[in-house]
Amino acid sequence: MKILSVVGARPQFVKLAPVATAFARTEHQHVIVHTGQHYDARMSDVFFADLAIPAPDVHLGIGSGTHGVQTGAMLGAMDAVLEEQRPDWVLVYGDTNSTVAGALAAVKMHIRVAHLEAGLRSFNRRMPEEHNRVLTDHAADLLLAPTDVAMGHLAREGLAARSVLVGDVMTDVCFRVRDAVASSPPPAELPAAVTSAADGYLVATVHRAENTDDPARLTAVVDALASLDVPVALLAHPRLVARCEEYGISLDRPTLHALQPLAYPDMVRTVRAARGVVTDSGGLQKEAFLLGVPCTTLRTETEWTETLEGGWNVLDPDLTGVKDLATRPVPQADRGTPYGDGHAAERTVAALTQA
Ligand code: UD1
Repeated sequence: MKILSVVGARPQFVKLAPVATAFARTEHQHVIVHTGQHYDARMSDVFFADLAIPAPDVHLGIGSGTHGVQTGAMLGAMDAVLEEQRPDWVLVYGDTNSTVAGALAAVKMHIRVAHLEAGLRSFNRRMPEEHNRVLTDHAADLLLAPTDVAMGHLAREGLAARSVLVGDVMTDVCFRVRDAVASSPPPAELPAAVTSAADGYLVATVHRAENTDDPARLTAVVDALASLDVPVALLAHPRLVARCEEYGISLDRPTLHALQPLAYPDMVRTVRAARGVVTDSGGLQKEAFLLGVPCTTLRTETEWTETLEGGWNVLDPDLTGVKDLATRPVPQADRGTPYGDGHAAERTVAALTQA
């Protein structure tokens, strides 16, 4: 059987890693198509290198653009790739423009589509990701869901017959890398002012359009991060840096340390040793939960609602609580295993090859 994975943005490389490893242990052919949505080395190449993902077989080189231009360019470029490759399945990941473009290109050519990380919902229709998720789930032939909550969403939308609970592939990677970096200290990229702070440090990321694309909101978010009681390592997504430059917002503040995005193993080392995480990233909320670090999420809702149980993750959309929340003690509540056992990729491969 031939399976063609379409990826393009940073979190998709993380999800691809365990799937590519699982496919390599079978006789099935696995083709990787990189749309080029993320093209900076720190947003793309380092993930392939560190997570031992084979180089993409096809690179579309699409790059940045408005939603329509970016998604349309991917869609147009996929036709020739699918014509040449003729896979049995196209596998798309998560909720980005690369996801919906890959799914739509395949269904139009009558090639079966599987969606990994199906069934997540924020119910916030202002998020581009929410449309990408819903459209992809309803286009796909096989819905590979990470959690019981996601299975419930799919069932309510009439998609139960096409849905399979496989677990969360990001948990596979997170556990594997956590064990591999077990005794390593935080990476050298972090300044001493962060790692040597007597009361610990926080890790922050901000990249969602809701937080970055309005100058007043972005000013409030950056001011909030700059006002926290311990040093903050702000791992700055290119979108955040671009918007701050555009709006004249300085990231150079006494306790706020704007740093380049980190490679995945370095991120795990940094989060493990942190006192807390402040973010709007879905993946990082979950990684903080898996690594046992309190998270404060600067959004009105989360798709990963399991992280909210027991106070491991707390939503603070209006930024009024973050000063106290960010340095709250580690919750004592048992986290359970809502994201699976670290073997979701094997179940993904089994579901695809047996379908
Ligand atoms: C995308 C996904 C988002 C995901 C995020 C992970 C969509 C709609 N959004 O958002 O769901 O959480 O990836 O990071 O698909 N840029 C660079 N270099 C790069 C990539 C981006 O400089 O390698 C800059 C460009 O200015 C670009 C901007 O970042 O215009 C936004 O990039 P884009 O891929 O459009 O969306 P993300 O914000 O990364």
